Amino acid sequence: MTTQTMQVAAIRPLTDRIAEFELKAAGGEALPDWQPGAHIRVSLPDGGDRAYSLIAFDAARGSQPACRVAVQLEPEGEGGSRFMHGLKTGDELAVTPPKCDFPLAADTPVVLLAGGIGITPMISMAAELAAKGTEFALHYAGRSRGVMAYADRLADRFGDALHLHCDDEPENALDLDALVKQLGADRHLYICGPRGMIDAARAAAEKAGIAAERIHVELFDNASSAQDGDAPFEVEVASTGDVFTIPPGRTIIDVLEEGGVDLMYDCQRGDCGICQTDVISGTPDHRDVVLSEAEREAGKVIQICVSRAKSARLVLDL
Ligand code: FES
Repeated sequence: MTTQTMQVAAIRPLTDRIAEFELKAAGGEALPDWQPGAHIRVSLPDGGDRAYSLIAFDAARGSQPACRVAVQLEPEGEGGSRFMHGLKTGDELAVTPPKCDFPLAADTPVVLLAGGIGITPMISMAAELAAKGTEFALHYAGRSRGVMAYADRLADRFGDALHLHCDDEPENALDLDALVKQLGADRHLYICGPRGMIDAARAAAEKAGIAAERIHVELFDNASSAQDGDAPFEVEVASTGDVFTIPPGRTIIDVLEEGGVDLMYDCQRGDCGICQTDVISGTPDHRDVVLSEAEREAGKVIQICVSRAKSARLVLDL
């Protein structure tokens, strides 16, 4: 993974748990241009890394001396947010170049739906749409205004295009069926937030007959895909006949890679679809946010970065 050294230029608290980090290249050089919806990955001391969406309130993203990310502290999380919230101004970080797995795919009016800290990629997307004059609506859902980062600034920037939905303001409650109706015949829906919101929005869109190609998702959830009661299961690699046991707490990718199987993957959280693998036999236990309800029921493919098995063995087309 190629990284460059960046320095923390400023840290600004946005809410009790969310802080904005302004990062600049340690050598002072301008940063490369990046697409709306892009992220960087920050290396962690334990050897892992975390992806954070880049934030821009206007469409001028390239050749800037600094970039911004916002991180919500998750005291019970896996450590990425605690590391970020432990940083001080002047600290240095190893950071990958910007990459976009959540691009604005179509030049049509769009509806953006963000839940909680999932607002971060949507800000640059909304700014790009506003600059192009493309009609859009930005729906931003959270528990209350006080915990929703950038709520006031977004209202100033995007005016009537912003729709805030706060759990403690029933009159503004998020109505997914009504939101899906706004998609009409050609609008695309972009969703970024926790798994539950993505699943509910996708279900509402599918019920309304919205084609899967018009729904784009990015998972923003620090919850692990592991569940209580997860049991071991076997994976047979069809090309070699090798059989691996996947224990609770480890993924198919973890175990097969360790066993020397060459795999393709990217996000490792079940939202990019790169690791999708054909299932020859067995019943997947889907934990991703990529597949439609019909695809889940068909059970012909599996995202091996997060999903598990309901049957004792899966035979995969690897
Ligand atoms: S690696 Fe992205 S869905 Fe599995």
